[in-house]
Amino acid sequence: MTGVAGLLGEIAGIGRDSARGGYSRQGYSRTETELREWFVAHAERRGLDVRRDRNGITWARWNPASVDGKAIVTGSHLDSVPGGGGYDGPLGVASALVAIDLLAARGVRLNRPIDVAVFPEEEGSRFGLACLGSRLAAGAVDPSRALALRDDAGDTFADVLRRDGLDPAHIGADHELLESIEAFVELHVEQGRGLIDIGQPVAIGASILAHGRWRITIDGQGNHAGTTLMSDRHDPMVAASRMIVEIRDAACAVYDARATVGRLVPVPSGTNVIASRVSFWLDVRHPDTAVTASLVSRIRDLVARVGAEEGCVATTTEESLSPTVHFDAGLRSTLRATLPYAVELGTGAGHDAGILAEHIPTAMLFVRNPTGISHSPEELVEDADAEIGAAQLADVLAALASPGPRAPHPPT
Ligand code: GLV
Ligand code: MN
Ligand code: MN
Repeated sequence: MTGVAGLLGEIAGIGRDSARGGYSRQGYSRTETELREWFVAHAERRGLDVRRDRNGITWARWNPASVDGKAIVTGSHLDSVPGGGGYDGPLGVASALVAIDLLAARGVRLNRPIDVAVFPEEEGSRFGLACLGSRLAAGAVDPSRALALRDDAGDTFADVLRRDGLDPAHIGADHELLESIEAFVELHVEQGRGLIDIGQPVAIGASILAHGRWRITIDGQGNHAGTTLMSDRHDPMVAASRMIVEIRDAACAVYDARATVGRLVPVPSGTNVIASRVSFWLDVRHPDTAVTASLVSRIRDLVARVGAEEGCVATTTEESLSPTVHFDAGLRSTLRATLPYAVELGTGAGHDAGILAEHIPTAMLFVRNPTGISHSPEELVEDADAEIGAAQLADVLAALASPGPRAPHPPT
């Protein structure tokens, strides 16, 4: 039986980015399709029934006894951030396949089907909206807004869906799907140092920080680098630089807040040209949804002020805002009873499990990342920890989907 490390080894060459390092596996790209085909081949080899739904989510059902009822779902995503690591997403998909192998080898009898889901564009690296597939299924984004999103090449999401064999007219809230799911458990690489600090291989997810993305556009006056006196400039790059420092300071003034500017695009981007426009993207996170909103409101104010001080016009547009998520208390109790040594940890990273949590009981398992670094080529999971994670996922799936005696849910 191939383990998690072996499965990940099979896709180690797909989507490598020699310029940035690590992987660039963009949503709905040829690379993501290749990864999906790899997943489908493995699912079919195991006798799973595979389908792709109208929102582009791939489902593989394991139901050897042909039982009815709501499904227990596990899985994750195969896309990555630009220059990301090899575990954020694929670890959960490979672990799901191995967990099914383990359950089959143990001869576990199911009283519910188990589905493995692969969600498209989880990172939002192409169209800017993270968890696009699960957001569509959950009705958390208006389909007409989603279809109009453009990637860096100028292609709309509608164009890309069509090319990918999906019908843009059919995307959107899928109540039937949500009603058919009993619970969703996503296994994921830990993206911080929580498990390193406590010396454990696996944790149960407790919560996700509130988080969102905002686009800031600064319009100035494009001009000549040599003939424009410093006093005559309306330079949006200078405005952006000042804003980024002030944003850092504003976040530092709020306990436990995080604010990041990781992407900045000057137009026209010439060495001897004062930019006419600069756009940058802001990511803000905090344990509390209201505190997140109030920090963003302060940032909007400073952006407008600094823009005006530099003789530019700056606008801030919200692209997404996801409230704090606390994973389902009953499901977490089952996970705690199944994995008594696992601690519970919160995370600052967003996940499809967070989007679905509003509609169905969801939970997560985190697997130790010995570097504590993620969204970077340095993200890592030791092979031994990956196999422990898959075995513990199998235990959780067995507890949720097999007819044996269940651990009682303690009062919450
Ligand atoms: C995705 O991993 C995110 O947290 O943005
Ligand atoms: Mn992820
Ligand atoms: Mn990620």
